[in-house]
Amino acid sequence: MHSRLLRLSLRFVLPLALVLGVSAYVVVPLVDDLTLRWFVRDLDTRSQSLANALQDPLQEYVPAGAEKKITQLFDRAMRDERLYAIAFCDAGGNLLYKTSTYPKSLGCNVEKGTDGKRQSLIRLPEGALHVSVSPLENEGRSLGTLILAHDMSFIERRSADTKNYVITLFAVLTLLISLVTVFIAHLSWRNWVSSMKGILRGEIGPRPQQQSTPPEVLPLEGDLRMLLHEFNLERRTRDDVTHLWTPEKLRTLLHEELAGDEVLVVSNREPYLHMRTRNGIEVQRPASGLVTAVEPVMRACSGTWIAHGSGSADRDTVDRFDRVPVPPANPAYTLRRVWLTKEEEQGYYYGFANEGMWPLCHIAHVRPVFRSSDWDQYVAVNQRFADAVVKEARTDDPVVLVQDYHFALLPRMVRNVLPKATIITFWHIPWPNPESFGICPWREEILEGLLGSTILGFHTPFHCKNFIETVDRYLETRIEHEASTISYGGKLTQVEHYPISIAWPENDNADKPSVAECRASVREEHGMPADHLLGIGVDRLDYTKGIIERFQAVERMLELHPNLIGRFTLIQIAAPSRSSLDEYQNFDARVRMLVQRINNRYSSGNYQPIILKAEHHDADSVIRYYRAADVCLVTSLHDGMNLVAKEFIAAREDERGVLVLSQFTGAARELHEALIVNPYHIEQSADAVYRAVTMPDVEQRERMRSMRSLVKDFNIYRWAGRMLLDAARLRQRERIMTKIRSHSRKSLRRVV
Ligand code: G6P
Repeated sequence: MHSRLLRLSLRFVLPLALVLGVSAYVVVPLVDDLTLRWFVRDLDTRSQSLANALQDPLQEYVPAGAEKKITQLFDRAMRDERLYAIAFCDAGGNLLYKTSTYPKSLGCNVEKGTDGKRQSLIRLPEGALHVSVSPLENEGRSLGTLILAHDMSFIERRSADTKNYVITLFAVLTLLISLVTVFIAHLSWRNWVSSMKGILRGEIGPRPQQQSTPPEVLPLEGDLRMLLHEFNLERRTRDDVTHLWTPEKLRTLLHEELAGDEVLVVSNREPYLHMRTRNGIEVQRPASGLVTAVEPVMRACSGTWIAHGSGSADRDTVDRFDRVPVPPANPAYTLRRVWLTKEEEQGYYYGFANEGMWPLCHIAHVRPVFRSSDWDQYVAVNQRFADAVVKEARTDDPVVLVQDYHFALLPRMVRNVLPKATIITFWHIPWPNPESFGICPWREEILEGLLGSTILGFHTPFHCKNFIETVDRYLETRIEHEASTISYGGKLTQVEHYPISIAWPENDNADKPSVAECRASVREEHGMPADHLLGIGVDRLDYTKGIIERFQAVERMLELHPNLIGRFTLIQIAAPSRSSLDEYQNFDARVRMLVQRINNRYSSGNYQPIILKAEHHDADSVIRYYRAADVCLVTSLHDGMNLVAKEFIAAREDERGVLVLSQFTGAARELHEALIVNPYHIEQSADAVYRAVTMPDVEQRERMRSMRSLVKDFNIYRWAGRMLLDAARLRQRERIMTKIRSHSRKSLRRVV
């Protein structure tokens, strides 16, 4: 027994320890150094081309002291995800212009080389930065220097990944080398080494006869090839920011990267409701940001969407498997309806989801209510939907896209039955801080449920951070902050931010009535003169949307600028929502009373400062109002993203109209050219509305143009594409690890 143990350690453990030591102390630093040099070279090139691009406008703006234009120029450049800060110093070394992110400690004292240009790596409390300094001259006269700082934190993350890969790779190599050494002594070393070199060089595909891989190495070859493929995939993801995402591109991605994989979506709200009306059965689209966003993705990817069948004629329109092809006019995917009893709907949807989780996550000063009976229904309904997912899945490793706070438990339930499934859960609403979340009596269960996901997505990095901190507070897990992963029960969950968006309108709304027609018809319909100033608000009648604060801002604006009385009206579209709940009924009553009070104060003759349309509007009619408006008001008290802001921008190919946007929406993190307000600060919002309706056309155009190009690029296909690419990457990593684990087990058995 002793000699056997000794043999094992000599043949197996010792070489393993040796190679791990070599990889940790020699190879990893070498690879680190190499990757660092690659990335720095890449950043050098990026900095150089950006400095060249900024040169001309700066030569014009700097001598003219055009601060605003320089700020706008810098803001536009800052859309590059990796660019951290920009500054401009004059020839005397005074810091003249900078972005808010520019580190104070950096100042203008960044060293310059003899060639007048210099790139250097600087470590500040904010993190590692790549700083490049380029001189700016005009007709031979030095104007100063342009400093560009790129964020290098991603290199550190990548480097951590690389370390893991290299060590794993070397461990596997060692295992196999030990085996090969012991059992296949006759194997020609030269042949072996040259084969390995070939594989590592990425020689994928048929190779010349004399280089064929010895059979003993074949399993390793497969793993290495997959590793290389994975690296390529990752590189592609990184490089993808510059390409426009389209439905075709999403479809191709799905087929190439998730070949043969099926997509299942689960959400509470269904994309199409069949309603019984006096004119027969009619199809309705719900007022839901989630549905607006996910529907175009499903059209592109096909698959099955599982949702609660809540329309009055839903049961009459499904087949015997409760399925119906949708969109009804031009089917592209399957809607599978799940039926809920009144009690289930009451406890799971109205109770736990909308009286508990919704106020809990929004922190909009409505107290969450938690009842055990609601929780029981929530658990039961999550299980019903999880069963439906398992039933609908045709393979054992489908891609399941779980939507929102109605299904926090479902990811783990599906994972238990389909361990190989790729489960992407997207949380469409904010995630609160750990203290606030701690109120929930079933906080551990909710977190455990969500950690059944492969990927857990939020709109903003801030919500990801809140989630990770919450998990850290309430569960025993291993958290890798740099990689943003949580390991729980041996399974890894990637927590990432994926800002949601909309499908950019085809042909820039060429099929819609023109902006001029919309302006004229909406004004005419409401008895307003052609030059009447119009504001628009579009929301569900929900206490998180800041509708009361919005009306107060309009009232305050009319107080401060009485010349606008009779000249400005806000049309508020408010789709009724969750109306059987007390909070929503109270809110509805408060909104109506406020409208009445403000209208009593300022209306005269035909004129009303606020027109409340508390009814469902279809997408076309909402677009008509967007196009007719001078200003769109989005004043949510807290909102995951808010797609109304993006829809308004997409509706305005005339590049006119101003967006007033709450700082508490996810959208405010992207749409910097909107007039950003704190909706709780009524005066500030009133000023913003006034500024919007008096804004010169040129400024409107500049702001709108810039926001339009952003929303067009960062569209819904990119949102889904990034998640699916990440899923493809994780699936591959999982497959490699499984294969490696099974090879290692087999090899170990043989050695022992
Ligand atoms: C928010 C939620 C969605 C929900 C929508 C409409 O956007 O994140 O999940 O569908 O509100 O609410 P409702 O309760 O009518 O589905």
